[in-house]
Amino acid sequence: MGKVTVSLIKADVGGYPGHVAVHRELKSEAERVLSEGKETGVIVDFHVLSAGDDLELVMSHYRGVDSEEVHRLAWSAFEAATARAKELKLYGAGQDLLSDAFSGNVRGMGPGVAELEFKERKSEPLVAFMMDKTEPGAFNLPMFKIFADPFNTAGLVIDPALHGGFRFEVWDIMEHRRVILSTPEEMYDLLALIGAKSRYVIKRVYPKEGHKIDSDEAVAVVSTEKLYQIAGEYVGKDDPVALVRSQSGLPALGEVLEAFAFPHLVSGWMRGSHNGPVMPVSFKDARCTRFDGPPRVVAAGFQLSNGRLVGPVDLFDDPGFDYTRRKALEVAEYMRRHGPFEPHRLPLEDMEYTTLPNVLKRLEERFERVE
Ligand code: F6R
Ligand code: MG
Ligand code: MG
Repeated sequence: MGKVTVSLIKADVGGYPGHVAVHRELKSEAERVLSEGKETGVIVDFHVLSAGDDLELVMSHYRGVDSEEVHRLAWSAFEAATARAKELKLYGAGQDLLSDAFSGNVRGMGPGVAELEFKERKSEPLVAFMMDKTEPGAFNLPMFKIFADPFNTAGLVIDPALHGGFRFEVWDIMEHRRVILSTPEEMYDLLALIGAKSRYVIKRVYPKEGHKIDSDEAVAVVSTEKLYQIAGEYVGKDDPVALVRSQSGLPALGEVLEAFAFPHLVSGWMRGSHNGPVMPVSFKDARCTRFDGPPRVVAAGFQLSNGRLVGPVDLFDDPGFDYTRRKALEVAEYMRRHGPFEPHRLPLEDMEYTTLPNVLKRLEERFERVE
């Protein structure tokens, strides 16, 4: 059998109430469309999930990344869910579908996309991460920890298969260019870039030459769509998703999850305009309530079996992450007390993509020159 592809494609096609959660009827609509796609052989297997107000399609197939058929199927699922969202008058119905007609690929049309094509190993554990109320750069810190930080990933120190390190493909999402950096040799250069998480984002991670997985086969991928750049105006946050392969020469599943035990600060909370901690939660707790948040991450664990997605296991549904959640809530409370002040509110450059400039426009003519 050829290489398998896992495609995680997501969109916010309507929330309820407000931007809190996805209505189950939207999920059943998406399931109906993807079942048809499975029957007609477009995909092998799928799961429809949700994180906050984002509808998440996890699909497996043998058509490679950027497959027109698979993207068309996902688009149809989002359209069907949008139609139901409109009937139910859900909030922001169809908001992430920025075009009326599908044109071959959902990238650049609003949905977020993370796809990995690879030779399925003897046993293939995979984690699908989904975040709500934040942006793609929110994955920079955990991806760095998983694949480059020996204090997170013991295997980098004690397993010869990981000891050589990994390569990171980093995108400059403002200038639409990319660079590949190797760790541990170029770790400081990598950090110099990805610390600026609103601009430089980790797109993919690759093994190095000599690893038992081919060096051109990505082992992790993050969605890097930027909705405000696509739409030209603020239409909601580009809540990101990611796929990470694990075990047997890659970080262990527990090393992958360990990177989320620290609730780091990310941007995207309330009106896409505030910094707050990202809290790992179970699917049932992925409802953004307080101040439309705080930002959340959920994790679905799978084993692949000849293309079948065996799972999911709700990985953060575990008291092992209670301490992280408590810490996240303390940090959320601390940040909230700043109200409209930075650094809770985003810095001015980032606010330029929001509704703030419209407020300031009215003051423009009242400004006087100061000598
Ligand atoms: C949506 C989000 C929310 C909204 C907020 C205001 O992703 O982050 O915080 O930005 O609820 O929404 P509107 O302007 O639609 O009332
Ligand atoms: Mg929404
Ligand atoms: Mg969302």
